[in-house]
Amino acid sequence: MSPTTDTLPITIDVLLGPGEWNAGLRSDALAGLTATPKTLTPTWLYDDTGSALYDAITRLPEYYPARTEQSILDRWAREMVSITNPDTLVELGSGTSDKTRSLLDAMAATGALRRYVPFDVADATLREAASRIATDYAIEVRGVVGDFRRHLFAVPTDGVRLFAFLGGTIGNFGPADRAELLSQIAMAMAPGDALLLGTDLVKDHGRLVRAYDDSAGVTAAFNKNVLSVLNNELCADFDLDDFDHVALFDTRHEWIEMRLRSRRRHTVRVPGLGLALQFEQGEELRTEISSKFRIERIGSELATAGLQVADMWTDPAGDFALTLAVL
Ligand code: AVJ
Repeated sequence: MSPTTDTLPITIDVLLGPGEWNAGLRSDALAGLTATPKTLTPTWLYDDTGSALYDAITRLPEYYPARTEQSILDRWAREMVSITNPDTLVELGSGTSDKTRSLLDAMAATGALRRYVPFDVADATLREAASRIATDYAIEVRGVVGDFRRHLFAVPTDGVRLFAFLGGTIGNFGPADRAELLSQIAMAMAPGDALLLGTDLVKDHGRLVRAYDDSAGVTAAFNKNVLSVLNNELCADFDLDDFDHVALFDTRHEWIEMRLRSRRRHTVRVPGLGLALQFEQGEELRTEISSKFRIERIGSELATAGLQVADMWTDPAGDFALTLAVL
C-alpha cells in the first residue's frame, strides 16, 4: 500500500501552544527588558513571520553560513550518516526543514530512514515543513512545537536517532547557556545516537558583520520583527521606525550582536508585562548573539557535555564546521 495525501502519518506534539508561547515570551521578555542593558532572547525572533524572514536571509548574497553549511551537507551527508546509521532524524530548530533534505536523502540511501522529527517554536512553519517532508519522503513525521531549552523530553526515544542542530543556532547561546543546552541534548541521547552540530567559525570581521547587516535590509526587518512580536503578544506599542538595526562583532567574546538602537528618547508601554519602558536616545536593546567558533573549542565544549567528536567537516575555506558527536 502506498501512502496517499490524506493517510500520511504526521503527528504534531504541541508543547508551545498559543498560551505557552505567550507565557514563555513573557517570562523571557520580563527578565530581559528590565535588565541593564536591555536584552531579548533570540527564540522569540521566530514567530512565523520571523521564520519566513530568516528563510529569506539564507538566500542573501552576504549570508554565507546557510549556503556553506548546505555545501558541506551536500558533499558529506552520506559519510555523516554512515557512522551511526540512524533511522530517525531529529532536527532542533528545524524552521522550513530545507537543509534537512540532504540528510534525509543520505538516510534513505542506506535504507534505514524511517522517521523525521522536526522541532521548532514556529507552529505553522513546522506544519508546512512536516507535510512537505511527509509527502516527498513517505515517512512518518512526528513534529514537536516546542522550545528546545525546555521540551527535549517530547522527542521520541525509540530508534537510532540523529539529532541535528544546524545553521549555527547553538551560537545564539553564550558559553554558560550553551554548556547547559549541550548537556541537556547529551542527556536526551541514548547509546547509538549521534549529534550533528553546525557552527559558524571565526573569520574576517568585515564579512561577519556584512552577513548580519545585508544591503537589502532583510536582516534589519528580521531584527525589528521581534518588536512586532512584542506588540502582538504583549500589546506593546513599539514603533518599528523608532529603532535602527545594528550588527557588530564583539572581538572579546567572538560573537556577532544584533541590537535595536532607539532613535530618540521615548517610552514604550508593554501592558502584557505591566511595564512602561524608557529608552534613551541611542540606547540599544540586544536581540541576539551569534557566537563564532574556533575548531578546538567545539570539541572541548562537546567533551564538557559528555560527548565525543566522531568526525568533523568544514568547507575548503574553513568558514563553517559540522561536527558529529556521540556519547
Ligand atoms: C538561525 C541562529 C543560525 O545566528 O546566524 C541570521 C540567525 N540572525 N541573521 C544566525 C540570524 C541574523 C542565525 N541562526
